[in-house]
Amino acid sequence: MADKKKVLKSTDDSNDIIGSKLSFEGREAYNLLRTNLMFCTKRNDRNARVIGITSSVHGEGKSLTIINLAYSIAESGRKVILVECDLRLPTLRKKLGIPKATGVSNFLAGVSSEKATLQKDVLIDGFDFLQAGDIPPNPSELLGSKQFATLIDNLAQAYDVVLIDLPPIGEVSDALVASRCSDGLVLVVRNNYTNASDLDYALRQCKLVGAKVIGFIYNDSESKLNKYKYGYGKKYKYGYADASRKRKS
Ligand SMILES: Nc1ncnc2c1ncn2[C@@H]1O[C@H](COP(=O)(O)OP(=O)(O)OP(=O)(O)O)[C@@H](O)[C@H]1O
Ligand SMILES: [Mg+2]
Repeated sequence: MADKKKVLKSTDDSNDIIGSKLSFEGREAYNLLRTNLMFCTKRNDRNARVIGITSSVHGEGKSLTIINLAYSIAESGRKVILVECDLRLPTLRKKLGIPKATGVSNFLAGVSSEKATLQKDVLIDGFDFLQAGDIPPNPSELLGSKQFATLIDNLAQAYDVVLIDLPPIGEVSDALVASRCSDGLVLVVRNNYTNASDLDYALRQCKLVGAKVIGFIYNDSESKLNKYKYGYGKKYKYGYADASRKRKS
């Protein structure tokens, strides 16, 4: 089990809902997601799991989800790399509070080496990060290139899990193009936000290109654990008070 928890410096409003800052319920939800994903995927012939996270439209919580999922995977002792492939509107670097550096786009354009762009042990040991890099004029082309397939293959040799942060399917073709290098896609659906027809469109696109949809993540739901948390907190408080009374008498 990884033990080094790092202090998060973030300039994004997701500060309180990332990694070790997450509530008990939040962390449990991502741990459950991790367990489910590990059960319903298996190591491929590259000896890793390569999973793309996408959604139908922007703002459904893909990036937040993928960071917390990566954190949970690293916490379970597996080596995970988060590859930022939303090359048009990258947000992970800011969410993680990491300075700008060269990244996927620069590597694919042949400008920088993989080693130079990889950030090791972000937030927690075992969680490495490859940021998007400079915004290129041709993201789809880069993600469909042989170099991208080689990059993911190489990472799959070195990690237990490769997580790919993708843009929404309904807005650009990048996610579908990049999905060819993954074992499957997981679609984030946000409570009170995702439109059924947008999701339907995204799923039809996946079917059209033969992209495998592993499952869905229901984000931002109203927690059914709230009652449990309240009950537990109350119980603990009463127990503690009783114990201190006994000590005084
Ligand atoms: N479960 C949640 N609880 C609270 N805030 C959330 C939740 N999920 C997402 N958000 C917030 O919603 C905003 C959008 O989330 P995020 O950036 O993860 O979405 P995205 O799907 O990656 O968006 P984009 O398509 O623009 O990349 C962020 O400010 C994030 O902090
Ligand atoms: Mg995003």
